[in-house]
Amino acid sequence: MNLPTDSSPFAARRARLAAALGGRSAWIPAGSPVSRNYPAALYPYRASSHFLYLVGAALPGAHLVFDERGKAALYLPTPADDDALWHGETPAPAAIGEALGLRVRPTKELSVDGMLTVAAPDLATRQKQLAHLGHEPGGAEDAPLLDALVSLRAVHDEHALAGLRRAAEGTVAAHRAGMAATRPGATEHEVRTAMVAAMSQRGMGTAYRPIVSVHGEVLHNETYPNTCRAGDLLLADVGAETHDGWAGDVTRTWPVSGSFTDAQRAVYDVVLASQHRAIAKCTAGTRYRDVHLEASLALAEGLVELGLLRGEPQAIVDADAHALFFPHGVGHLIGLDVHDMEDLGDRAGYAPGRARSERFGLGYLRLDRDLEPGMAVTIEPGFYMVPAILDHERFRSLREEYVDEKKLAELRGEVRGIRIEDDVVITDGAPEVLTAAAPKTADAVEAAVGA
Ligand code: GLY
Ligand code: MN
Ligand code: MN
Repeated sequence: MNLPTDSSPFAARRARLAAALGGRSAWIPAGSPVSRNYPAALYPYRASSHFLYLVGAALPGAHLVFDERGKAALYLPTPADDDALWHGETPAPAAIGEALGLRVRPTKELSVDGMLTVAAPDLATRQKQLAHLGHEPGGAEDAPLLDALVSLRAVHDEHALAGLRRAAEGTVAAHRAGMAATRPGATEHEVRTAMVAAMSQRGMGTAYRPIVSVHGEVLHNETYPNTCRAGDLLLADVGAETHDGWAGDVTRTWPVSGSFTDAQRAVYDVVLASQHRAIAKCTAGTRYRDVHLEASLALAEGLVELGLLRGEPQAIVDADAHALFFPHGVGHLIGLDVHDMEDLGDRAGYAPGRARSERFGLGYLRLDRDLEPGMAVTIEPGFYMVPAILDHERFRSLREEYVDEKKLAELRGEVRGIRIEDDVVITDGAPEVLTAAAPKTADAVEAAVGA
């Protein structure tokens, strides 16, 4: 069991949450392990990030409770008689409580009537929440707790930022290892393995299933069946998860041979310019949707210059024609979850009064808040040749009006998908790029391949 060496950051967070709850009681379950086929074969356990944020330890089956006076207590399950045989001794409840700075009680004493709650990650615990409270956990009844959690977690404290920096370091190491392991004839599996090993050596896991693919046009491609060939671009979207749950999320795209073709480099530089422009806009007070629109405009300008898009760049963005090649949002919150707090739907990503747009170029945008110092976001523009978009009837008129067919045919043979993603912290001044040490310019990426 991993217990924090210092419980004070978690006690401070609990005090802030209690103050925000203003005398309302709350129930935050860690969640329970999920069985894969028989009881002792379990999927890897991951505690609720809300619980991790407030307690600092992943304790299967535990519950954090705040009473009306704002006092917190931890309810722990009693281990089975033979638990120590299979899993080793569990520290005594009093020792756990001391390490965490929390009063500890057995779960059989848990009483949660009328409490606010947030949905647990696993179905069995959510069903218990439903049975106890009489409504779906994390619904409208629970809004005061959910809003308080969003306010706290969206702006990272120093302890959280330290966790994100550790995750960034492991993530950068993975990308360097992936570039070094790439050569014509290597399989996607081999490159992925080198990346995961670099994180594993640091005691880190993966924050999400790695994407390591020569088919970068499949945005969340999670299979690795291909052999890398000279002329291919390899897209790797891989992020570390620290032992205490903090996430990294980085994408780099590199040429398998170690050299971009002229056409690949030209498109790569357009995506990179778009990412630079978007990162520069990540300043306090800026609306994140405007960061997305800045990335879109920069991409449109670059693609007009390349001869792939026709027209005036702002008009292209207004018509969503750039989204034929950049169909997703420019990024999201990052923290204890890679898409931080998306278990709460758009409550975390969208400021009150804002909602998802129906527009093709904005509908996949996961974040539309005004940026504040301490927030962490990803910036991840891309360029993709997606047959399901380019050849779809719905987009035929956009393609006819804005796309140069000759240039499209030329580029389609060379570029399938390019994404460049970094993790960025908003400050009072210039944005801090946590993952800046991962090679990124075309020259730096080429030098790192096979090195
Ligand atoms: N790794 C998933 C994403 O970039 O959103
Ligand atoms: Mn991301
Ligand atoms: Mn990513």
